[in-house]
Amino acid sequence: MDFKEKQKYTAIIRNAIKKIKNPVLVKLCEKVFKDPRFFEAPASKSSSRHAHQSYDGGLLQHTAEVVSIVVKLCENKTVPLDADVAITAAIWHDVGKIFDYECVDTNTYNPTKHYGYVRHLSRSYGEFFSACKSLNRDENLDDATVLKISHAILGHHGRQEWGSPVEPDTKEAYAVHAADMLSAHKFNLHS
Ligand SMILES: [Fe+2]
Ligand SMILES: [Fe+2]
Repeated sequence: MDFKEKQKYTAIIRNAIKKIKNPVLVKLCEKVFKDPRFFEAPASKSSSRHAHQSYDGGLLQHTAEVVSIVVKLCENKTVPLDADVAITAAIWHDVGKIFDYECVDTNTYNPTKHYGYVRHLSRSYGEFFSACKSLNRDENLDDATVLKISHAILGHHGRQEWGSPVEPDTKEAYAVHAADMLSAHKFNLHS
């Protein structure tokens, strides 16, 4: 993926962050951009049947797509959603994929030991939770919000047999799951 495309997807995520009202959540979402690996990682490795965006910058593109769909769902208001929760979860949902694949050649990735032992859903939650714990004392984030975002991250694959430790039980978690499915499976779907 070229620099221009990366800029385009980065702008989509940055514009979504502007829609978040809670400044502490804004700070947490900005943190994602601090890891340069986020811009290089694939969203999924190419040999998998459901591989998607399996190239350099794929994770950035997939995250931008999920975020963009979630923002539209929030704006649509047919189903009222907590935009702060849904957008934050969408931005963080696959961050753990940074640790799931290693680049062995241009656009060629192998799964890591982390992929086998931990997998990205748990790691995304772990990274989000430790980011919450690293906030300053005056940057309070209520437990209910942290819990809702954590649930949407852990539930984004939708079913336990698809790798989610929990299944979506809130509107926001279901919105992130639906957006994830659309972005990940668009290559396999017929119009
Ligand atoms: Fe995922
Ligand atoms: Fe995803």
